[in-house]
Amino acid sequence: MENISFENKKQNKLFKKFIEKFPQYLDTQIIDELRATEYERLDRLGHIYLDYTGGNLYAQSQLDRHHDLLKNNVFGNPHSSNPTSLLATELVKEAREFVLDCFHAKEDYYCIFTANASGALKIIGECYPFNKNTHLTLTFDNHNSVNGIREFAQKKGSSFCYSTLFIENLRLNEKKLKKKLNTIKNKEHKLFAFPAQSNVSGVKHPLSWVRYAQKRGWDVLLDAAAFVPSSPLNLKEVQPNFVAMSFYKIFGYPTGLGALLVRKDSFHKLQKPWFAGGTVSFVSVHETLHSLEKNCARFEDGTINYLDIPAIKIGLEHIHKIGMNTINTRVHCLTGWLLQQLKKLKHNNGTSMITLLGPQSLKNRGGTIIFNICDEEGKTFPWDYVEHLANEEKISLRTGCFCNPGIDEISNCISTNETAKYYDNLKEGGYAEVIKTMGKLRGAIRISVGLASNFNDVNSFINFVKTFKNKSASDIEFGNYLSDH
Ligand SMILES: Cc1ncc(COP(=O)(O)O)c(C=O)c1O
Repeated sequence: MENISFENKKQNKLFKKFIEKFPQYLDTQIIDELRATEYERLDRLGHIYLDYTGGNLYAQSQLDRHHDLLKNNVFGNPHSSNPTSLLATELVKEAREFVLDCFHAKEDYYCIFTANASGALKIIGECYPFNKNTHLTLTFDNHNSVNGIREFAQKKGSSFCYSTLFIENLRLNEKKLKKKLNTIKNKEHKLFAFPAQSNVSGVKHPLSWVRYAQKRGWDVLLDAAAFVPSSPLNLKEVQPNFVAMSFYKIFGYPTGLGALLVRKDSFHKLQKPWFAGGTVSFVSVHETLHSLEKNCARFEDGTINYLDIPAIKIGLEHIHKIGMNTINTRVHCLTGWLLQQLKKLKHNNGTSMITLLGPQSLKNRGGTIIFNICDEEGKTFPWDYVEHLANEEKISLRTGCFCNPGIDEISNCISTNETAKYYDNLKEGGYAEVIKTMGKLRGAIRISVGLASNFNDVNSFINFVKTFKNKSASDIEFGNYLSDH
């Protein structure tokens, strides 16, 4: 058990302090056991992994179980009824039911398998009945895969708008959102799309908005991709019309699979604009006639990923064994410690080393933190430089805008005019050009903890940040260490 031996062998005062502040961390010891077995490659290879919002890590046993399943069975394309096909069909059905069970959604939802959360969101973009008499409301805090839905809406003549955030904590401006949800009326359909948890600031947006909006005639699309890896989602308690997620973000393996959960009573609203193999029960070529499948198969184009889908059940069983509440507690404790320690870091002249963006406290947030590192004069170290140094220490963090331009525009006070001017003069595009033409910083540093994180990971990161103490950022230009983002 990594943390216990850390404490006993090295008599580490810091760990004791941490436990004094977050005693519930000791209830998550099962993760230390797993870290030494299932995730031992992290320490064997010397990695400090702090990008759980980017992608989760898989356990060794997930690979072994999936490998055994493939090695000891013969699977055929499930679009048939021969024995190998039937076996594939059976395991896909089992995985589908397991997913629904996990989210307490068996009675009320369909589970459509997709390639990832973006694939799930694209189904909504393509199939939601946008027209001249519909409206889409988005929040400034949204992943680009949700922002992109506005393109479908716009092309079909639908209006759309964004609801803003407070710069101080990157939480929704509830007054303004309420106004939008209450005043946009007399539309045939209204869709409100927001993330359960920000993929950038870690903010958990209140799930109570789901009911609030529905009561006022809105359909709600909940992007749960950044929320479900470390928080339980009970779809009996809160019932968005549509929920999107990616499985590799929950248990690391396999990549290439996600789901769109559709409330059964909203299924009919989605109008598929075409058909493909697997999505139809009948097609004529004499006549332009086709009948779509009656259930989720309607939205699963072509042959589904039938060899990997059984690994979803294996992954979810692994999460069950640990317990979502245990994961949640661990993430909570480590995030709390990170926030406290990062805020304490000061240069010799007393200035803070960190500019923390988003919520400053642990309340209603997940394990994702964004910030910049500053020098004694308050000048920001370019994030490409920070990432370059982190890479040398085998620290995996994330930098840039994280596919969430709304958060970046709010936190860097980018105005509509500035954005328009930039696009008018666009040459190559990219960060260096944006920063140069706007004369303003864009992007930040993001770290995120998760399922297999431990105290050593966060402490190593804090020690890394301390290496910037009393260093000057004045000679370091943005862009010198930029890799492709
Ligand atoms: C909140 C959120 N939504 C959507 C996505 C898109 O997920 P994917 O890239 O798996 O399609 C992400 C990915 O980071 C995310 O964090």
